[in-house]
Amino acid sequence: MSARLAVLISGTGRNLAAILDACAGGELPAQPVLVLSNRPQAAGLALARARGVPVQVLDHQDFSSREAFDAELARRLAAAQPDVVALAGFMRILTPGFIDQFSGRLLNIHPSLLPRHRGLNTHQRVLDAGESWHGASVHFVTQELDAGAVIKQGRIAVQAGDTAESLAERVLHSVELKLFPEVLSWAAAGRLHLANGQAILDGAPLLQPLIGDY
Ligand code: GRF
Repeated sequence: MSARLAVLISGTGRNLAAILDACAGGELPAQPVLVLSNRPQAAGLALARARGVPVQVLDHQDFSSREAFDAELARRLAAAQPDVVALAGFMRILTPGFIDQFSGRLLNIHPSLLPRHRGLNTHQRVLDAGESWHGASVHFVTQELDAGAVIKQGRIAVQAGDTAESLAERVLHSVELKLFPEVLSWAAAGRLHLANGQAILDGAPLLQPLIGDY
């Protein structure tokens, strides 16, 4: 019985498409049971529908508070009984109560080499800092933003003439679309867990993130 996978999105859904393709191709041993967006106009919703994946919209603007939104989100998500939940460009900061309910099952992709550049505008910040390396990280979601145990990172070299846009595209296509399905496949196969704040892969704690050069 393959793992049940839910994916939360807010936007274009390029990570979502790569994840769903990996499920369909068998590289990711999971059955996508729900794609949920907090934005009704997210293009990723059409990608999911086209692949026959159950879709829900939960517009955060319909809720008076972050807690009220997260309570309904938790209810919808729990009903899908996911083994793994992928945050694929899900642009919401989640409340501690929600994170506790799904802790260990929540994986996020963040477009930087964590712990550098938590938060937004990572590509411009890499350029402003004159850094030579950039990339993306897949990490467990914990209560501190973008600070959960990092499982694997993919790196690219910053090139002369790079802009925030060119970096974002290269990080997405060269790293994210390969990295996230790979790490999710470990979680779906029951090889990846979170214990006492540490990522455990095949029974061994990851004392530092795995690094992939793409
Ligand atoms: C990606 O760059 C991801 O790193 C960030 O948001 C973007 C989502 O893009 N969290 P998409 O919705 O997967 O196309």
